[in-house]
Amino acid sequence: MGKHLILGSSGHLGVELMLGLQERYGANAVVLSDLRPSPHPAAAKSSFVAADATDFDAQRAIAENHDVEVIYNLVAILSAQGEANPMAAWGLNMNPLLNTLELARKGAVKRVFWPSSIAVFGSDVPKDGTPQDASLVPTTVYGVSKAAGELWCNYYYEKYGVDVRSIRYPGLIGFRSMPGGGTTDYAVSAFHCAMAGETLTCYLEPNERLPMMSMEDAVRGTLDLMETPEERIRIRTAYNLSGCDFTPEELTLAMKGCVPGFEIVYAPDERQDIAASWPNSLDDSWARNDWDWTPRHDLRGLVEHIIDGLAKQSNVDKPTLNV
Ligand code: SER
Repeated sequence: MGKHLILGSSGHLGVELMLGLQERYGANAVVLSDLRPSPHPAAAKSSFVAADATDFDAQRAIAENHDVEVIYNLVAILSAQGEANPMAAWGLNMNPLLNTLELARKGAVKRVFWPSSIAVFGSDVPKDGTPQDASLVPTTVYGVSKAAGELWCNYYYEKYGVDVRSIRYPGLIGFRSMPGGGTTDYAVSAFHCAMAGETLTCYLEPNERLPMMSMEDAVRGTLDLMETPEERIRIRTAYNLSGCDFTPEELTLAMKGCVPGFEIVYAPDERQDIAASWPNSLDDSWARNDWDWTPRHDLRGLVEHIIDGLAKQSNVDKPTLNV
């Protein structure tokens, strides 16, 4: 069995996926690549290659030199940061993906995972239980790049038989690494503020509902999708995936159950407009049918899981707070 390569391994999702892959297949079966290594202690257990994923030859060299069978390409600039620099976001969100798809077409790797997002949807779709086949008219460059990337994935599957799989992730909430530049990240910041005894200044309206998911659910869902027999995969753009959904007000209320003193104040900015264009919740029945997806964490379970994780995390593991 070849190895699992994570491109963008030091990012918010990359660190969590690293831990999930190490647990499932062993640290020797995982290869990490990013511009810089992650400070997470577990990163030292797997090989790390400093590389720029926009460079095709760099991706090819890692795949060849490390006996890579599967690439998880997580390289991205998220929604809010992408609006500040649209061309940089387009380049970084597209070029590494096309390099990976080309590598797979040439037979250098057998399988590819690439994350899509709820950001592919715009305001024209049903907000509650947005269907799998709703139209894709995104409002951000990040969403445009994810919608285009989904079409590229489907194209490489249809035209060349590349086994590429993807998920439209909701906002991902973990405690082991800090996100940056997203619209859903307020929810991650809320937990860090609560644990530090600080008040969160929230950039969304109190009643802005968004689809969310614990990192634990997201990683399990991703690894399960990648282990599903090829003939069961019927979506080659990206699967809708649902965990739970909540507003900042509902999150605060749930968090007060664990951290009674937690306070939130509201100062909505341009990220509120991005959030307002996204679904409230997704219909993920295709994922449930095709590869038996079931989320474990509802809002209450997610809150308890994250607070417990942060409380247990040693000072050594603690990520830098950059809210
Ligand atoms: N979490 C992402 C963002 O907020 C959406 O996929 O940009």
